Amino acid sequence: MKILVTGGTGYIGSHTVVELQNQGFEVIIVDNLSNSQAWIVDAITDISGKKPVFEQFDLADQKLTSDFFKRHNDLQGVIHFAAYKAVGESVEKPLMYYRNNLVSLMNILEGMAENQIENLVFSSSCTVYGQPDELPVSEKAPIKLAESPYGNTKQISEEILKDTIKSAKIKAIALRYFNPIGAHQTAKIGELPLGVPNNLVPFITQTAIGLRKQLSVFGEDYNTPDGTAIRDYIHVVDLAEAHVVAVKRMIEKQMKNAFEVFNLGTGNGYSVLDVIKSFEKVSGEKLNYKIVDRRAGDVEQVWANPEWSHKELGWKAKRNLDEMTASAWKWEQYYRNKK
Ligand code: UD1
Repeated sequence: MKILVTGGTGYIGSHTVVELQNQGFEVIIVDNLSNSQAWIVDAITDISGKKPVFEQFDLADQKLTSDFFKRHNDLQGVIHFAAYKAVGESVEKPLMYYRNNLVSLMNILEGMAENQIENLVFSSSCTVYGQPDELPVSEKAPIKLAESPYGNTKQISEEILKDTIKSAKIKAIALRYFNPIGAHQTAKIGELPLGVPNNLVPFITQTAIGLRKQLSVFGEDYNTPDGTAIRDYIHVVDLAEAHVVAVKRMIEKQMKNAFEVFNLGTGNGYSVLDVIKSFEKVSGEKLNYKIVDRRAGDVEQVWANPEWSHKELGWKAKRNLDEMTASAWKWEQYYRNKK
């Protein structure tokens, strides 16, 4: 069973490749290395004992993508991670985000349709819910106006999928991720942000290791128990496992509809201070942080109702917050010592 993983050297992609290989899938990675590094292929091989095929090119290039699918018309499915994901950067460079995230999806769908490849798992995000009216948020919650071009590319991508499955023999599962954090237990792969991290956990671990002076906690005047914003943090390996379940569901023809959506979250909301406390507990480090103003565009609180994923997908997140922060810390230490 051969699967294409786009963005397979990236954070979530690399963990998913390992889980696919562990379950007996043959994996081809396509990545342009715009936000990842080639040695990750070796790290994946080291963990799983199997070397994935790796092709380096840009899926926004229609010709290269079309050629790729002609050469690999025996794929059982595609898991599409390759996309830009920095919210702030998308506000500064909206066209770069629309071009990259949407054109690559369209090229992939065309390549699949032309070669009778039917199954696509797509990386979506809880950002499509904005600040939901009800918590926990289920898949039935209305899609809110996107807060950023990045968020809009996820919404438009889901629309593109909905339209495409009506006209082509393609099925799609969109997985809406909450906040993926943590790293593989071997600490050989993990999150590798370019430059100053935007996200909370890499900023925490880089501060603790001395790369950043201080973590800014964005806002303590939210309407939450400790005043800091709440998210549903999920271990990246739990997330990776969900992709294997989703792709099997498609191959085994268990889908109820040609387009399905699932929340990938734990169902638990944790505040920024909860995450810091967990990190301090598992690492034994005292974190240097200060409270500053809210960050523009942040929602106050969001966490998943994962019932539909439990029931219909048969998947459940297993790892708790301390396992997430401990693995992120182990990875940060391993990576800095390796360099
Ligand atoms: C953001 C995006 C989300 C995207 C994800 C991946 C928004 C509203 N959401 O999630 O769509 O999929 O990134 O890149 O932009 N925080 C601090 N200090 C920091 C960094 C973060 O206090 O230095 C706080 C934030 O205010 C937030 C929480 O930590 O309350 C999590 O932030 P972050 O890790 O950036 O993720 P989101 O903003 O939830």
